[in-house]
Amino acid sequence: MLGAPGAGKGTQAALLAERIGMPHVSSGDLFRDNIKRDTDLGKKAKKFMDQGALVPDDVTIAMISDRLAKPDAADGVILDGFPRTRAQAEALDKMLAKKGGAVAAALYIDVERDELIKRLSGRWVCSQQADHVYHEIAKPPKKAGVCDVDGAPLVQRDDDKPQTVAARLEKQLPPMFEVVDYYADRGVLNTVEGDKPMEAVTIALLHCVATAVPRPNGDTKTTAASNGRTAATPPAERLARSGGR
Ligand code: AP5
Repeated sequence: MLGAPGAGKGTQAALLAERIGMPHVSSGDLFRDNIKRDTDLGKKAKKFMDQGALVPDDVTIAMISDRLAKPDAADGVILDGFPRTRAQAEALDKMLAKKGGAVAAALYIDVERDELIKRLSGRWVCSQQADHVYHEIAKPPKKAGVCDVDGAPLVQRDDDKPQTVAARLEKQLPPMFEVVDYYADRGVLNTVEGDKPMEAVTIALLHCVATAVPRPNGDTKTTAASNGRTAATPPAERLARSGGR
């Protein structure tokens, strides 16, 4: 699952995970869990996350590699927020190839900058379960400040402060577009218009997943529909639409 900060990756990955019965693996949630538990990994990651920067590749790749080695990941996962750089994408291919697998579909949720900022500034998340995500306007909880699912208090993320949001967009979009191009080159990119209501985005993503076939190691072909819109758009234009430089 690829997309700018606030594009809806976490929201959609949680829905897809439930619908298709695969674990939802979010690199951001894994980092936040480590920060909460005050682990060495959490301490390392926090410095970068507070500045809106990407956590270094070696730290991130090791964390995801450990997670994918867990038994529940043996039949596949929905990856949310990883890979985020070309080096991470190459490392993922190597990790999966060792198990005879490959990326079946790269799902890119495309959202314009103004909408991203509205989404991040209105987001509230459950303090107990990170993938219970709400929005003041688009998805308000039944009772203000309380998670519908488990009754835990809702909180705002530290990195949703306006200055950190600006830094996240500026620093993280250029490497993300390299990853989008990486998967376009391999014929597995699916671009979904993310400015639509949540349910419409879910339906479009489910269609992409349903038409993607698991591929044996090394085969880069897929039946998943890739409209190529992202790959065909010049990099400068894409960055301008999403607020990058
Ligand atoms: P991470 O947690 O992955 O943050 P992110 O990529 O910036 O994405 P977000 O979680 O902010 O947004 P989202 O796309 O999941 O949107 P959401 O569904 O919540 O990473 C955090 C940090 O960790 C990074 O900044 C980096 O430092 C580090 N990191 C993580 N992965 C890394 C990696 N691979 N390498 C290096 N560093 C890494 O939706 C947002 C809001 O919009 C919600 O309120 C939601 O309710 C609402 N919404 C969703 N869809 C819609 C819709 N269709 N219409 C209206 N509202 C909607």
